[in-house]
Amino acid sequence: MDPWSSDLIQDYKRLVEQFGLSEIRDDHLELFGDAPFFRRRIIFAHRDLDVIAEAIRTGKEYAVLTGIKPTGEYHLGTFQTVKEFVYFQRKSMSAVALFSIADIEAWEDNGQDFDISRKVAVSNVADLLAAGLDPERSYIYFQSKEIRVHEIAALAARGITLATMKAVYGERHMGLYLSALVQIGDILLPQHPDLGGPKPTIVPVGVDQDPHLRLTRDVTAKLRSKWGFMEPSSTYHLIIRSLLGDKKMSKRDPMSYISLRDDEDLVRKKILNAFTGGRETAKLQRELGGEPWRCVVYEIAKFHLFPEGDSELEKIYRECVNGERLCGECKAQITEELLREMREHEKRRAEVLPLAKKIVEGASRRQPLYSLA
Ligand code: TRP
Ligand code: SF4
Repeated sequence: MDPWSSDLIQDYKRLVEQFGLSEIRDDHLELFGDAPFFRRRIIFAHRDLDVIAEAIRTGKEYAVLTGIKPTGEYHLGTFQTVKEFVYFQRKSMSAVALFSIADIEAWEDNGQDFDISRKVAVSNVADLLAAGLDPERSYIYFQSKEIRVHEIAALAARGITLATMKAVYGERHMGLYLSALVQIGDILLPQHPDLGGPKPTIVPVGVDQDPHLRLTRDVTAKLRSKWGFMEPSSTYHLIIRSLLGDKKMSKRDPMSYISLRDDEDLVRKKILNAFTGGRETAKLQRELGGEPWRCVVYEIAKFHLFPEGDSELEKIYRECVNGERLCGECKAQITEELLREMREHEKRRAEVLPLAKKIVEGASRRQPLYSLA
C-alpha cells in the first residue's frame, strides 16, 4: 500500500487480512451509528477503536488527531476525513482535537513552498470550522512550526532502520521518509508531556494512510519507556473514487474531483460527465436495471448526502437496480442535493473566516501562541 499514490484500492477485504485490520462490529455501530459514515460502512475497519469507545462511555479524556496537506481547496475526498475528525471531537466533551496542516509533506511530496501552504491553510481551516469543529477544544498547527512534533520525530528516528523504511514505503527520496517521521510526530503529539502525557488517541484516515500508523505503532513500543506512549487507535474509510471512475479523487487532476469551492455550473458539468453504473441505452436500463455499486454519482450521495437518514439513499439504490431510475434524472437530483449542502456550508464558512485567519496567523509563528498545555 502506498500513501503517496493516487491509484485506486479495489480489494479492501484483502487489505484487512493482509495488514491485520479489525472490522467494525455491531456493538461499534450501537455507539457510532449516529454517524452516517459508520452506518454506511464507509469506515470499514479500525485498530484499537475499543480503547476510544471505552473512553467515550466512561467520559475519560482522549484526543482525535488527523492531518491534511494544504495543497489546495478541500474536495469531497478530503472532506470525508474532515467530517470524521469533527465527529470524534463532538462525540465527547472530554475530547480534544489536534489538526496537522501538513506543510512539510506538501513540500516533500508536491514541492509546495511553506508560504503558499500558509495562504491555502486559511481556507482549509475555515472549512474545518464550518464543518462544526469546536475551536475551544482544538489545536491547529503547521508541521513546520510545531517543535514538539520534530522532537518526537527525532526520538523515533533512532529506532528505525533504512531497511524498515524501504519495506514499508519502498525506495523513496529522503523527503518522503522525513515526512513519514514527521507524521509519527503528529500522531504522538497529543501524548507529549507538554500536552498532558499519555492518552488514547484516535486517528481517522483513509486506508492508504495505514503504513504510517503501522510504523507509529511499532515505534511507540520502543519509545514507551521514555514517555509512556500508548499505541494510537485509528479508523479507516473507503477511498472515494474519481468522478471518472478510475483513480481516487486527486488534487492533481481537477476534473477528477469536486472541490468545495467549485461554482455551481462547474459542479453541474462535472457530475454530468461523471462515470455511472448506467446502461448504454435507456431501454436497456429499464430492462436490466443500473449498477449503483459501480456508480460514482451514487458514491457521492453515499459519502455526503442525506445525513439524517438512509431511506432516500436506499430508495435511489432500489430504483436504480430495478430499472425505475434513469441516470439523467438521478444525476440532476443528486447534483441539486449536493449544491444545497454546499451552499449551507458556504454560509457557515463566511461567518468563521475571520477566526480561521486568526488561527492560521497564530500557528504561523515559530513558537505557537495556541497551546493545550
Ligand atoms: N499524510 C497525510 C496525507 O497524505 C496527511 C497527514 C499528515 C496526516 N499528518 C498526519 C494524516 C497525521 C493523519 C495523521 O494526506
Ligand atoms: Fe448511478 Fe443513478 Fe444512474 Fe443508477 S440511475 S447508475 S445510481 S446515476
